[in-house]
Amino acid sequence: MDSRPPLVWLIFVLATIMSSGNNLELVAGKPHNAASTFPHDHPSPLRLAADTQGFISIDCGIAPGSSYTDDRTQIHYTSDAEFTDNGINYNVSRSENPSKQLMNVRSFPEGARNCYTLEPEKGKGNKYLIRAFFMYGNYDSKNQLPVFKLYLGVDKWDTIKFKNPNKTVRKEIIHVPKTDYIDVCLVNNGSGTPFISALELRPLDNSSYNKTELGSLLLSNRWDFGSDQEKFQVRYKDDALDRIWNSYKNPFWESITAGFESYSYSDNPFKLPGIVMSTAATPKNESEPLSFFLDMDNPSQRFYLFMHFSEVLQLQGNQSRVFTIWLNGTLWNDPVVPKRCSSTRIFRTNSVRGSRLLFSLVKTDESALPPIINALEVYVIKEFSQSTTDQDDVEAMKKIKSVYMVRRNWQGDPCLPMDYQWDGLKCSDNGSPTLISLNLSYSNLTGKIHPSFSNLKSLQTLDLSHNNLTGSVPEFLAELPSLTFLNLAGNNLKGSVPQVLMEKYQNGTLCLSLGENPNLCVSVSCKGKQNKNFIVPALASIISVLVLFLLIAVGIIWNFRRKEDRAMEMVTREGSLKSGNSEFTYSELVTITRNFSSTIGQGGFGNVHLGTLVDGTQVAVKLRSQSSMQGPREFQAEAKLLKRVHHKNLVCLAGYCNDGTNTALIYEYMSNGNLRQRLSGITIFMFLGLDH
Ligand SMILES: *[C@@H]1O[C@H](CO)[C@@H](O)[C@H](O)[C@H]1NC(C)=O
Ligand SMILES: *[C@@H]1O[C@H](CO)[C@@H](O)[C@H](O)[C@H]1NC(C)=O
Ligand SMILES: *[C@@H]1O[C@H](CO)[C@@H](O)[C@H](O)[C@H]1NC(C)=O
Ligand SMILES: *[C@@H]1O[C@H](CO)[C@@H](O)[C@H](O)[C@H]1NC(C)=O
Ligand SMILES: *[C@@H]1O[C@H](CO)[C@@H](O)[C@H](O)[C@H]1NC(C)=O
Ligand SMILES: *[C@@H]1O[C@H](CO)[C@@H](O)[C@H](O)[C@H]1NC(C)=O
Ligand SMILES: *[C@@H]1O[C@H](CO)[C@@H](O)[C@H](O)[C@H]1NC(C)=O
Ligand SMILES: *[C@@H]1O[C@H](CO)[C@@H](O)[C@H](O)[C@H]1NC(C)=O
Ligand SMILES: *[C@@H]1O[C@H](CO)[C@@H](O)[C@H](O)[C@H]1NC(C)=O
Ligand SMILES: *[C@@H]1O[C@H](CO)[C@@H](O)[C@H](O)[C@H]1NC(C)=O
Ligand SMILES: *[C@@H]1O[C@H](CO)[C@@H](O)[C@H](O)[C@H]1NC(C)=O
Ligand SMILES: *[C@@H]1O[C@H](CO)[C@@H](O)[C@H](O)[C@H]1NC(C)=O
Repeated sequence: MDSRPPLVWLIFVLATIMSSGNNLELVAGKPHNAASTFPHDHPSPLRLAADTQGFISIDCGIAPGSSYTDDRTQIHYTSDAEFTDNGINYNVSRSENPSKQLMNVRSFPEGARNCYTLEPEKGKGNKYLIRAFFMYGNYDSKNQLPVFKLYLGVDKWDTIKFKNPNKTVRKEIIHVPKTDYIDVCLVNNGSGTPFISALELRPLDNSSYNKTELGSLLLSNRWDFGSDQEKFQVRYKDDALDRIWNSYKNPFWESITAGFESYSYSDNPFKLPGIVMSTAATPKNESEPLSFFLDMDNPSQRFYLFMHFSEVLQLQGNQSRVFTIWLNGTLWNDPVVPKRCSSTRIFRTNSVRGSRLLFSLVKTDESALPPIINALEVYVIKEFSQSTTDQDDVEAMKKIKSVYMVRRNWQGDPCLPMDYQWDGLKCSDNGSPTLISLNLSYSNLTGKIHPSFSNLKSLQTLDLSHNNLTGSVPEFLAELPSLTFLNLAGNNLKGSVPQVLMEKYQNGTLCLSLGENPNLCVSVSCKGKQNKNFIVPALASIISVLVLFLLIAVGIIWNFRRKEDRAMEMVTREGSLKSGNSEFTYSELVTITRNFSSTIGQGGFGNVHLGTLVDGTQVAVKLRSQSSMQGPREFQAEAKLLKRVHHKNLVCLAGYCNDGTNTALIYEYMSNGNLRQRLSGITIFMFLGLDH
């Protein structure tokens, strides 16, 4: 006979894989496609013993802190409370009990994205099998099948759809993470509340399931052929790696069994279970090939097939079993000679694609015995970007989240995907984003300012205002190289402000707000040692007068000569603190403002003039007029008023002038054109004439 299979033979057995998404379902059949669906959740008998080391087994939705050992698999399942933040537990009321893990779900009515964070022992760079189960079971009594998305890290893994409320949807992937943790996220697409029944992670050997193409392997299906039990599912402990094998039978195939199913095929990293490899399928008619085809929904998807062979019979000296594998009538593989008690794995280094993949195993002329096949695994290749936020930032944010027990929807990657970025964050816009802004104001933070903040190296803006933070203002905040805005107002901080932080503030590199910290010393009177000129506290704040394009800052205080200290204390107690760096002389002000030639406003305190510093920075100079009747008391009244309207935004004081006769405050001037980046989008109005 010609070893090329005649086409008429090819339709000998139809094993059709219908792929919807990537979840393949096997439809076994007669030549003309009468179909019966394949069972998914049949119990596996208990056999062998193996180590559960490295397994992560989560039964989602059971009571927090609880755990149990599954009767059938002896796998130890724990509650998911440690792995996720949100969600509501439900019991599933379904009479026929499929498996204990499916009898509870955790449902996520709130938040667009909710994640489970898995941290496998072996960490990044290793290969893992990750598996999620979903069984709706009408847990919410709404009788509405939801549709939602499953993400692995920042990448979409699959869409979860249900055909039947009682049917289990299982998603499985073989993946090598680039980080030590793996986020599995459920994303609400507006088509029903996401939920999950169980989540599992199993470590695999690095050298198993290797391939030449990039990407992770999404399981389509994994079949055990020749099993004498129908509706039979093999998993742990028969399979040391806890793969789930679905048995497959059809009337045109015959089962042959070795009779030593406890044998462990540990000679290669695939560690195939004896119970799977000790049975095989062979064509009933020995002179015909063993054929099957896979129908693909999406012909552009790339498939990887792993075929597993092992001789099941004790061959006599002159017996031989040799066959070739054909795909669509083209020779696909070198002749296969299955060995006894050893698994031969066949796969091609390249993936295959097409709408229908027709495989035929054809015995060679010299072969006495017909072809066999013991098992088959079909995967879809899926490339994941695996991009993440800068890992130092992720670590720092996780620490901050846990230290302060932040109650926000802070799950998954902080910056990516953009749609699900953590609340209160701004990130740089590149492949591996870094945090540039963190706003944790009004977040009920308690305790000290944690050193983790200093690990956010790209941070430009940090707002921790209006919490209950205690302890001192730490020096490490000054070490953040890009920090230009720091708001610690409205806390319970005490002690003095680190010198280096004040220096940054003074020289204009940092906009700082420390107000409403009753025990925080920012004035000279606290330590008595600091340079008398060091700090000029002022109350800064803004109000939104619906006026034009102008801007400016406000607030202040100070006093002349002997009243100086008292005024400083008053501000320290009362208002948010702003201080400027440099002291200007009156003649410098004349230069800066070109002899006060450009007046941009008028207030009770005096006129406001536009000026330009030597470095080109535009400033607003608020000059106390000689004729002003406003004295220290009026000043305090203004300060109080300002405090009431206060802080929407902050403007830095650039300097002051107090040469005994003349008093002036110099603010950064931000017209439309040169708003500082950190305040972009904020309109700052000049505060004028609000003196009474
Ligand atoms: C689920 O059932 C268990 C006992 O069967 C019960 O203790 C638990 O409170 C139930 N949980 C919910 C969310 O109803
Ligand atoms: C699902 O199971 C429940 C309880 O066993 C049963 O009442 C219901 O009819 C089943 N639904 C379907 C669509 O099979
Ligand atoms: C698997 O590969 C990773 C990275 O290549 C390596 O760190 C790890 O040690 C390897 N594991 C084993 C078991 O060889
Ligand atoms: C849901 O997903 C579809 C496509 O995947 C998208 O077009 C749609 O906008 C999404 N809906 C929501 C609410 O996110
Ligand atoms: C897979 O890994 C094994 C063991 O490391 C190696 O012998 C084999 O050549 C690899 N195959 C491919 C396709 O990389
Ligand atoms: C087996 O197949 C051959 C070739 O198709 C055919 O000639 C023969 O009749 C078949 N035998 C049986 C028992 O069906
Ligand atoms: C194999 O050898 C045995 C005896 O040695 C003989 O009876 C049998 O017919 C042979 N089978 C084949 C296929 O040659
Ligand atoms: C095999 O043939 C079918 C048509 O019968 C075609 O759709 C498919 O793409 C082919 N597959 C390959 C890998 O050539
Ligand atoms: C932080 O968020 C609060 C609102 O919660 C807002 O008032 C404040 O302006 C924000 N801070 C910054 C620096 O954007
Ligand atoms: C802070 O705590 C108060 C009182 O316990 C609560 O009402 C408020 O919602 C909390 N705010 C945040 C952001 O957690
Ligand atoms: C802040 O914390 C202290 C002690 O930690 C507590 O006594 C005080 O009531 C808290 N203040 C607020 C406003 O929550
Ligand atoms: C501002 O002061 C800090 C701390 O002393 C210093 O590191 C920084 O270089 C200064 N920047 C400018 C622009 O002078």
